[in-house]
Amino acid sequence: MTKILVTGGAGFIGANFVHYTLKNKPDYKITVLDALTYAGSKNNLKAAMDKITFIEGDITDSELVDKLISENEIVVHFAAESHNDNSLLDQWPFINTNIIGTYTILQAVRKHEKRLHHISTDEVCGDLELDDPNKFTESTPYNPSSPYSSAKASSDMLVRAWVRSFGVKATISNCSNNYGPYQHIEKMIPRQITNLLFGQKLKLYGLGENVRDWIHVDDHNSAVHTILEKGKIGETYLIGANGEKSNIEVFNLILKMMGKDNSWLDHVKDRPGHDMRYAIDSSKLQKELGWKPTFTNFEEGLANTIDWYRDNQWWWEPLKAKVEAKYKAQGQ
Ligand code: NAD
Ligand code: DAU
Repeated sequence: MTKILVTGGAGFIGANFVHYTLKNKPDYKITVLDALTYAGSKNNLKAAMDKITFIEGDITDSELVDKLISENEIVVHFAAESHNDNSLLDQWPFINTNIIGTYTILQAVRKHEKRLHHISTDEVCGDLELDDPNKFTESTPYNPSSPYSSAKASSDMLVRAWVRSFGVKATISNCSNNYGPYQHIEKMIPRQITNLLFGQKLKLYGLGENVRDWIHVDDHNSAVHTILEKGKIGETYLIGANGEKSNIEVFNLILKMMGKDNSWLDHVKDRPGHDMRYAIDSSKLQKELGWKPTFTNFEEGLANTIDWYRDNQWWWEPLKAKVEAKYKAQGQ
């Protein structure tokens, strides 16, 4: 059994990683380290709790991180403050968790000579014009726009420096927008689905021309496993599944699939500094490591996601009023 430490394993992608790993990679013994911030919940790991070790704690706690990393062979580092809108309101948690937290993990993997995979985002590259024929590649220069993406870019830079200066055995992946079960209802897709389930209108920022490159969370996590198994130390891999869609296209799909017309769509205040378009070229990962996405039908994946939120009202309903009150205060 390989002992693997998963930071942020009670959040959206981390919890899905735990479920995916238990189902598909039985040779891993999983420990989750998660601070259970507003974004993390043991509810996300309910079905997994008796098969993993769960530690509630902070990745900036160097003593705890040192101990846990000394006891494991691999660290997959998902823990982060992850929401752009929140990063426009209060920056410190993003600096503290995304930068100081990653530094804390790097010092421990360096000391104990453990393997690290650092999870990051395509947003470190900034954005593309709508008509730009190019996509992001591993050599696209970093040009982040928001406090969130700049803190993630900083964490990537730290990882690269620790690899080069101290020989830390790390890889990095930068993935596009994930969707699927257990995504916090502050994020675009679950917010709109739960709005309709709650009898409220969809809330579209600006004109909705902005494009995101959607990938199912299980495809993200299968790519992470491919990198753990075959990735080259020191390398960065972009993860994406050719899922570009404008926000208005996704909103129209949600309306159609949930049986509502355009009168259920509200245009609200745009996000300041709103990135226009993300698009990933994942050919390095596909050609060098042989990874391929499985969930290539976005409409089918979205329909399954709508069903999940419909069937799991107990999971999101207690959060809904607070999330919407916070958005309302921002005119969104
Ligand atoms: P999330 O906000 O749903 O979950 C983050 C988790 O980290 C939560 O469980 C939270 O409790 C935990 N956490 C936060 N601060 C912590 C701290 N100081 N110590 C320990 N745990 C802490 O985020 P997500 O959407 O699952 O994203 C996971 C990772 O994937 C992040 O690094 C994010 O940048 C990256 N990513 C996300 C997407 C996406 O579309 N959601 C795409 C690409 C990359
Ligand atoms: O690209 C990867 C990134 O994707 C990750 O690094 C982030 O952690 C993740 O949150 C996501 O960032 P985005 O800012 O793209 O995702 P979000 O779901 O917040 O918004 C998606 C798009 O939808 C964006 O253009 C803003 C818009 N939006 C969002 C919300 C919450 C709306 O139009 N209405 C909304 O209510």
